[in-house]
Amino acid sequence: MDSIVVTGNGPLSGRIAIAGAKNACLTLMPATLLTEEPLTLLNAPRLSDIRTMAQLLQSLGAEVSALQDGKVLAMSSHALDNHRADYDIVRKMRASILVLGPMLARDGHAVVSLPGGCAIGARPVDLHLQALEALGAELDLRDGYVHAKAPSGGLKGGRVRFPLVSVGATENVLMAATLARGTTVIENAAREPEIVDLAQCLRKMGAQIEGEGTDTITVEGVERLGGATHRVVTDRIELGTYMLAPAICGGEVECLGGRRDLVGAFCERLEAAGISIEETESGLKVARRNGRVQAVDVTTEPYPGFPTDLQAQMMALLCTAEGTSVLEEKIFENRFMHAPELMRMGARIDVSGGTAKVHGVENLKGAPVMATDLRASVSLILAGLAAEGDTMVNRVYHLDRGYEQVVEKLAGVGAKIERVAA
Ligand code: EPZ
Repeated sequence: MDSIVVTGNGPLSGRIAIAGAKNACLTLMPATLLTEEPLTLLNAPRLSDIRTMAQLLQSLGAEVSALQDGKVLAMSSHALDNHRADYDIVRKMRASILVLGPMLARDGHAVVSLPGGCAIGARPVDLHLQALEALGAELDLRDGYVHAKAPSGGLKGGRVRFPLVSVGATENVLMAATLARGTTVIENAAREPEIVDLAQCLRKMGAQIEGEGTDTITVEGVERLGGATHRVVTDRIELGTYMLAPAICGGEVECLGGRRDLVGAFCERLEAAGISIEETESGLKVARRNGRVQAVDVTTEPYPGFPTDLQAQMMALLCTAEGTSVLEEKIFENRFMHAPELMRMGARIDVSGGTAKVHGVENLKGAPVMATDLRASVSLILAGLAAEGDTMVNRVYHLDRGYEQVVEKLAGVGAKIERVAA
C-alpha cells in the first residue's frame, strides 16, 4: 500500500488548478438513469469514487466511457437490464444509494443494497427512503437490501419535509420527482452548490425545477427526460483544502477556478485567522505573508455554513495558531479521528463529544500517521507541510477517493512531497 511523505519546506508559491466536484459528479452520474438519451459530463474529476460509480452504473446496464483522460464522462442508459445495485459495490461507497430514486422513477422498480457503517458516523439512509415513500414508493427492507416499487402508473408528486438537512436525500428525491406525475415540493432541502449543479443539469435534460439553492424546491414532473451536456461545478472542498496550504506554511497560492461564493463561510473564518484572500480573474489568491495565524472558532453547518468536509483541514491550520480555537462538529458524530493523529505530530487538542479545543503550538513535528477517511487524510498532509521533518501519511487509498494528483498539485507550488510504494 502506498504512502505519501511530506517534508516541511517553507512557504509555497504558484497556482493550483481546482478540479470538478467529486460530490457533484457522484450525483450527476446517476442522473443518466433517468433518460434513454446520452448524458455527457465535462470537467469530471479523476478519482476512484468516480470509477466506482461508473462500475455501479455499468452493472445496471448503462454505458459509461471515460474520454479525454477521464475528464469527460459519456454515459447512456438506453438499455438498462438490471435494477439491482449489489452490496459488493454499495459497501465501497455510500453515494451508491443515489441510483435508487432515478431507477424507481424511470422503470418503477429497483433493489439497492443498504450501505453499511461509516468511519465518520452512523449515516443512516432513512430520510432518502421516507422521501421516496412520500412520492408513493412502496419499500420493503430485507436481506440488507431496499426492494422498492412505484405504484402502477409511476411515482406521484408529493410533499417532502425533511426533519434535518440531508444533501443525499435531497438529491435522490429531486431526481425521482422529475419523472413523477404532478408537483413535488421539497421543504428543508439542502442548498449546497452540488444540489444547484444537479438541478441545472436536470433542467437541461428537460426537467421543470424551481427553487434550487433555497430551502424549498418545487418540481413539476414531466413524461420523459432527454440527453444533455453539462460541466461539473468546481470542487469547493478541494478548493478550500488547497487554500489552506499557503495559510498553513506561508507564501501565496492562486487556486484556479475558485469562486468565493462556493466557500463564503470558510473564507470568512480564514480571514478572521489573518489570511488574505483576493478574487482574481482566474480564481482565488490566498496568502499568509507575516506572523502566526490567530485562533478562530468554527462550527460546521449545512451550506451556506462552514462545511464539515473542511473541518479536519481547518483543524490542521489551527494547530499552529496563536491561542485556543473551539471547533464544533454538528453534522457527523464521529468526525474528529484526525485529532489523535495530529497530536502525534505535537498538536494540543482536547476532544469532548462534538467539540474539539485546539491549543495552538508554535511548531508541529513530522511523524508517521494514518487516517480513516478522506478529509482526515488530507488534513495530515497539510499539517505535514508545516511540520519539521518528515510526515508519512499511510492509507493513501482514502486520498485517491477524493483528491486527484495531490502530490503533483502541491509539488507544483513548491512543497516537498512524494508518493512512495510500500
Ligand atoms: C454528503 O454526504 C457528502 N457526500 C459528504 O461528503 C458530506 O460530508 C455531507 O454531504 C455533508 O455535507 C456526497 O455528496 C457524496 P447528508 P451525505 O445526508 O449526503 C444524517 C466527503 O468527504 N442523515 O447531508 O451522505 C447523516 O447521518 C463526504 O466528500 C440521516 O440521519 O450527507 C448526517 O448526520 C463525506 N438520515 C446528516 O444527516 C439520512 O437518511 C447530513 O448527512 C441521511 C442523512
